[in-house]
Amino acid sequence: MPNNYYVTTPIYYVNDKPHIGHSYTTMLADVLTRFHAAMGDDTFFLTGTDEHGQKVQKAAEQRHMDPLAHCNETVIRFQELWKRLGIHNSDFIRTTQERHKKIVCRILQDLFDRGLIYKAEYTGHYCIPCERYFTEKDLLEGGLCPECRRATSKLIESNYFFKMSLYQDWLVDYIKTHPGFIQPEYRANETLGFLRKPLGDLCISRPKSRLSWGIELPFDKDYVCYVWFDALINYISAIGYGTDEEKFRKWWSGAHHLIGKDILTTHTVYWPTMLKAMDLPMPKSIFAHGWWLSGQDKMSKSLGNVVNPMDMMNLFGVDAFRYCLMAEMVLGNDASFTQSSFIKRYNSDLANDLGNMLSRAVKLTIKYFEGRIPAPGGYEAPDRELRDQALASIPLMRSAVENMKIDRGIDGVMNVVRAANRYMEKTAPWTLAKEGNMARLATVLYTTAETLRIVSGLLLPVMPCKMKEFRMKLGLPEEIAEKSDFAGRLAKWGTLEPGTQVQDTDALFPRIVIEEPMAQLKAEGRKANPKAEEKKSGTVAVGAETVTIDDFAKISLKTAKILEAEKVEGADKLLKLKISLGTETRQIVSGIAKYYTPEELVGKIIIVVANLKPAKIRGVESFGMLLAAKTGDTLKLATIDGGEFPDGIAVG
Ligand code: MSP
Repeated sequence: MPNNYYVTTPIYYVNDKPHIGHSYTTMLADVLTRFHAAMGDDTFFLTGTDEHGQKVQKAAEQRHMDPLAHCNETVIRFQELWKRLGIHNSDFIRTTQERHKKIVCRILQDLFDRGLIYKAEYTGHYCIPCERYFTEKDLLEGGLCPECRRATSKLIESNYFFKMSLYQDWLVDYIKTHPGFIQPEYRANETLGFLRKPLGDLCISRPKSRLSWGIELPFDKDYVCYVWFDALINYISAIGYGTDEEKFRKWWSGAHHLIGKDILTTHTVYWPTMLKAMDLPMPKSIFAHGWWLSGQDKMSKSLGNVVNPMDMMNLFGVDAFRYCLMAEMVLGNDASFTQSSFIKRYNSDLANDLGNMLSRAVKLTIKYFEGRIPAPGGYEAPDRELRDQALASIPLMRSAVENMKIDRGIDGVMNVVRAANRYMEKTAPWTLAKEGNMARLATVLYTTAETLRIVSGLLLPVMPCKMKEFRMKLGLPEEIAEKSDFAGRLAKWGTLEPGTQVQDTDALFPRIVIEEPMAQLKAEGRKANPKAEEKKSGTVAVGAETVTIDDFAKISLKTAKILEAEKVEGADKLLKLKISLGTETRQIVSGIAKYYTPEELVGKIIIVVANLKPAKIRGVESFGMLLAAKTGDTLKLATIDGGEFPDGIAVG
């Protein structure tokens, strides 16, 4: 009987477009699913979108849209991106779907009927970005949110509560007696640390007067369900809980949740206690990975350093981007993203080691054996060594996948590739050919080709398209790694039939050549046009003169109202402006004092770059930049045609 492997990603908020963090978790789930399928498991991979709650309601309001219409539009960005990234999810759940809402209501009603949900008055501190309540003692100094360090607001209201506190002792015991339930182990310790304080009950409602965008409580029409309580249920509503018992039992018995470290408590405290109250077994594991940092900094929209996965795909190609992400992050830890470190990794692992190895093997086979894989003779020590190392990388990868150490599995495979390159140097096939030692040459080339068969098979889940091409060049029939006993066949040394025709075509991984300093490229926001260059030279050049719509989309242009304006002391040219962006006020400093008096400016609706990194100009804080046109001695501010217009509206 095959194992059932069910993997989930967090469901993503549809308040914004997907970024590299979302892409990473989804890609990781895809890679894990493909590996498990190759190992013979029955697999189910779920991802989706979290569409209720304040964040989404706010995003819709800002766009003057109905929340569902906003969700319908935004969800496509996720679905399209997953397609482009070669993600093969088995299902995509949206929390606004009937199939989900009806299960949430059923669970709420059941817990309410069993006295596990009750109504009470509540005083709390609410953090809008985190969508979470905190008690006074949870807050940081100055009343700041303990999760995101932003300001919270105090609220007193009647709400419904889930009796989470009932399960504290049980949960502590469960975590302690189930190593591997929360991974990595230090995240289990973090959760146990959290559980050292008394666990309160969980507020699971929001009064409609404050937030209307949510699932209405079946027992009180004046309230909607708290977004996290609603969202977590997706993991069971999507696989038939309450509607298809057989399907549900099958997948739930092999459930593995992938999450980012920031959503640990909701998954390792709220969710297990909810499941316990529903009398359901726990998932097999909850794995929290670290964060992708932009260099050393946290990625954030306000800092303007969020990496757009589309750009990376255009530069590296989908599969190489998948490879770099999987190879660069040590699962559990934070990882640093810089374009140059990815280019380095691409050039050394893929262009040099893997790509060159294949091209050498194919070219030599064409040159000396008319393009047909030769039959090997007797194996000598170096052949046996390489064969054994290649075969050993299969269980190594299996254990890396089972233990969530994909980067190590990949490293093991790349070690084999590097060993194969050294083997070539050592056995020197070109010398063997010169000496006319064709029997020995045949063994060397066969050993190399078999090694490449194993290597490419192991990398198929990471780079499905490129490794398919790779294997076609070796003359291997198209195999679907996800089906049948792929791993078993992979481990059979000698699978490649002598006489198989190889194919020599273009380089699989053309080198990426950096034509200009990265800093300049970044500053100019310019992007690569790899395809055109690739054709010419077999290399991909970074640095073209145009930007794509995706690049442009990185810049947030907004209308802003000038509330106050004054001169900056000691700087004749500068004015300090207080502007409103609808939901927030900011200060910007601009060199327009020669052209406008402060009085002229107040009340004007202008256009600003809202996501420009904050800076100090002559010691004065400036966050944003206004747009203006200048000719000779005249400067005019960019405004919206037709005068009166609200502030905080996106321009584009
Ligand atoms: N909607 C909730 C999850 C509900 S699951 C029942 C949510 N959504 S999210 O869109 O804000 O974030 C989804 C995931 O993206 C989280 O796991 C988060 O850790 C991850 N990431 C966000 N930024 C990230 C990086 N910079 N790097 C890696 N992952 C990060 O939370």
